[in-house]
Amino acid sequence: MKAIAVHPATKSIRAIDAPEPSIGSPTDVRLRILEVGICGTDREIARFDYGTPPDGAEYLIIGHESLGEVVEVGSAATALRPGDLVVPMVRRPCPHDTCVACRAGRQDFCFTGDFTERGIKGRHGFMAELVVDDAKYMNRVPAALRDVAVLVEPLTIAEKGLMQMWQVQQRLPWGATIEAGIAHGYRHRAVVLGAGPVGLLGAMALVTQGFETIVYSREKAPNPKAALVESIGARYVSADDVPLDALGRTIGNIDVVYEATGASRVAFEMLEVIGPNAVFIFTGVPGRKGPIELDTDLLMRNMVLKNQVVFGTVNAGKDAFEAAIRDLTVFRERWPQAVQSLITGRFPMSAYADLLLGDGAGIKNILRIGA
Ligand code: BGC
Ligand code: ZN
Repeated sequence: MKAIAVHPATKSIRAIDAPEPSIGSPTDVRLRILEVGICGTDREIARFDYGTPPDGAEYLIIGHESLGEVVEVGSAATALRPGDLVVPMVRRPCPHDTCVACRAGRQDFCFTGDFTERGIKGRHGFMAELVVDDAKYMNRVPAALRDVAVLVEPLTIAEKGLMQMWQVQQRLPWGATIEAGIAHGYRHRAVVLGAGPVGLLGAMALVTQGFETIVYSREKAPNPKAALVESIGARYVSADDVPLDALGRTIGNIDVVYEATGASRVAFEMLEVIGPNAVFIFTGVPGRKGPIELDTDLLMRNMVLKNQVVFGTVNAGKDAFEAAIRDLTVFRERWPQAVQSLITGRFPMSAYADLLLGDGAGIKNILRIGA
């Protein structure tokens, strides 16, 4: 079968002919991959900054944002049928008995670091015509979502982050009282840092939860991403027009920050301006640059005197995949045009090198594998 693989030893990235996987256990399912999304992680792997082949393999088949169609099911995989559309999870558990997270099926919180991730760390990914894996890692999506379901995996980042945000904020009298027609985030203001796919999907999730949502990004407005942001009822603020230290004065008290850029300087500067009881969610993975200077006294004073919480979040569990599938259905009903326009291009498999090594233009670009 055709697949796209990186070869760390020779630092090359190639279309290869790989052996077809077959069902090895009764709970396995076999998928025909339809589409694979490309993200910053894939581009880092293609630059050989990141990414590890499976033990003993010379190459790693990449790709972790995917949509597949079930073509064959093992005798015990009774919840799925050929023809079902599924989005597979990315992370697989570590082998250690002592890892309570992995043993509980929450490898997204693995303690040991010995987890694997399909297409990223120690396990082949989804840029391949066929994939086999255990049915428990599959998330069924309605056929009506087929054209946007490849956005489920990047949306799980926001879903996991926001679930934790609600858990953390439960310690406060913070959420709106439950009233018909009033979403929980009502009367709170959220800032999304960055207008890439993770940021824009996060903004859609925040708007849906009732937050007044501001997307803060470098690019000057007007631009297509700013228009998309306005079309979902959020506000776009360019760092070019409003410097960070003036952001609070311009938009008001900041209750939530959903960081989706991986740019650490702007993130920590934002941390200096958030309000009382604020929660700051880090999702970006910055490359290693030089150290920067921070006003740590100010940060620490704020965190203590304003009851603030800062947390990081990576990967996602089953609950976040299910929430992403539900939310994507909602987004698509509310903002069909905006959701479609997150996908800026669909390309044949042969375009892999441009997409992985090129200038990264667009929002979310997709490789069509078997569609
Ligand atoms: C993926 C996650 C993964 C993380 C770290 C992200 O791009 O979406 O599933 O855990 O990279 O490898
Ligand atoms: Zn573990």
